[in-house]
Amino acid sequence: MPQHHHDSTKKKQPMKPLEFSLNGERVVAEGVDPTETLLSFLRRRGLTGTKEGCAEGECGACAVVLREDDGEGGSRYVTVNSCLLMLGSVAGRELLSVEGLAREGELHPVQAAMARGGASQCGYCTPGFVMSLFSEYYRADRAAPEPRAIEGNLCRCTGYRPIYDALESLGAPAEDDVFLARLKQEPPKLGSFGIHTHTPEGERAFHRPADLHEVFHELAKHPDAKLVAGGTDVLVEANQSHRRWPAVISLEAVSELREASLDDTGLTLGAAVPLEQIEARFASALPVLGELLPLFASPLIRRRATFGGNLANASPIGDGAPTLLALDAEVVIASSEGERRLPLADFFLGYRQTALSPGEILRSVFVPRPFPDASHFYKVSKRVMDDISTVAACFCLWRGEDGAITRARFGYGGVAATPMRARDAEAALEGHALDPAHVEAAAEALGAAFTPIDDHRGSAEYRGAMVVALFERFVHDLEQAEVAR
Ligand SMILES: Cc1cc2nc3c(=O)[nH]c(=O)nc-3n(C[C@H](O)[C@H](O)[C@H](O)COP(=O)(O)OP(=O)(O)OC[C@H]3O[C@@H](n4cnc5c(N)ncnc54)[C@H](O)[C@@H]3O)c2cc1C
Ligand code: FES
Ligand code: FES
Repeated sequence: MPQHHHDSTKKKQPMKPLEFSLNGERVVAEGVDPTETLLSFLRRRGLTGTKEGCAEGECGACAVVLREDDGEGGSRYVTVNSCLLMLGSVAGRELLSVEGLAREGELHPVQAAMARGGASQCGYCTPGFVMSLFSEYYRADRAAPEPRAIEGNLCRCTGYRPIYDALESLGAPAEDDVFLARLKQEPPKLGSFGIHTHTPEGERAFHRPADLHEVFHELAKHPDAKLVAGGTDVLVEANQSHRRWPAVISLEAVSELREASLDDTGLTLGAAVPLEQIEARFASALPVLGELLPLFASPLIRRRATFGGNLANASPIGDGAPTLLALDAEVVIASSEGERRLPLADFFLGYRQTALSPGEILRSVFVPRPFPDASHFYKVSKRVMDDISTVAACFCLWRGEDGAITRARFGYGGVAATPMRARDAEAALEGHALDPAHVEAAAEALGAAFTPIDDHRGSAEYRGAMVVALFERFVHDLEQAEVAR
């Protein structure tokens, strides 16, 4: 006989409200699906200035501004794509949408600059550009106009010249500017947060732990929970395939995963440190990061995206892996049982398969010293900026006092089911000078190293040719640098 369950007898978890500040007002979002995108929530509330262009982080039409800790005791405004933020992620945050900028009927100076310069036609992209310009307007160290400020916002009809002119024409904020004053207030702190909602589509639990202990506690309760760091892969999957998860654990507030440090042993990068911060803090110590990161997506994405997410999703065309493989990086994997460490080269087991077992998360990436004496990253894609790689490669060389190569590491993406090292080519150089005979031996080994995939981004033949061509480019760039010295 079937058993009947009466909901009224079930012990229900109390619904916790999700609170945040929106355009200066406190919002208490009750009974909401915390995995809904912020974009969808804003538009349902009637804030339709924030547009949906692509719903996958490509166009910036959905951009909103968050006030965040600047890491130096103050705060800063950052522009992010609201189509790639789960509503649960904004708990405790301070948020501005385009509707919140004009004051007492007067346009904000960045809106006025756009209007003055005729920087808008159909207007669909305009709110996104305005939000990007807004963060730029208040950037503490702004000196010259910075084109990067609007990289990641696309306009299909006006053309970028007038928009860039608007950027160029920005003056300094007035002393009594309310948004400037706000930056002097203590930044919102991302604490631990949890919500469990019953929606017509099923149960939705969203947890944002503040430390690793709490992560493993939540993982024990929800073993099938979807982990999300920056969400720039997860939300694309959610939006494109209407994928939903009964439980989500956000890693973005986990203190141990946000730590990054450089010391005598090497560089440790917590798995949830946003790429933008990695570039700002460590590109001078490891210049190859300064070559990789500007070519990785757009600033809007790099503000949220992490190496943890990039490696854990194990995409064969991810850009982080080739570079970190060539730097001989290790990964630290954590679970409630403790930690283990393994070379990144052993982390990728097959197409989108990693060495992570259930209950384990990626804690950090470690790049050991000594750092390479020579290194370069190259990315072949249809567009130079903000595009997915067809082939990516990073080459690192360590040399002895006599100039001979003591260690060579070549990391490739887009040429096999996983990101891979080219071990035979590395071995062909080790112990030798970078002379024509050994360069040729390495190039020959590279020609036979991979069986590239064939897809709309590039044929297997084209990719195979790129494997060797990028190495030749590396050798050429080193020779040019020698000549210039
Ligand atoms: C417009 C756009 C452009 C892009 N351009 C590029 C590009 O140029 N190059 C490139 O390589 N990628 C690109 N990406 C992909 C994406 O931004 C990167 O892969 C990014 O590094 C993912 O990081 P995330 O923190 O956002 O990952 P998330 O989306 O949060 O997570 C990705 C996956 O990793 C898992 N995960 C996250 N953190 C951990 C952890 N600590 N432990 C275990 N599992 C974890 C999640 O469960 C999920 O399966 C782009 C994406 C978009 C939307
Ligand atoms: S809608 Fe295009 S980036 Fe969000
Ligand atoms: S004004 Fe039409 S897309 Fe930019």
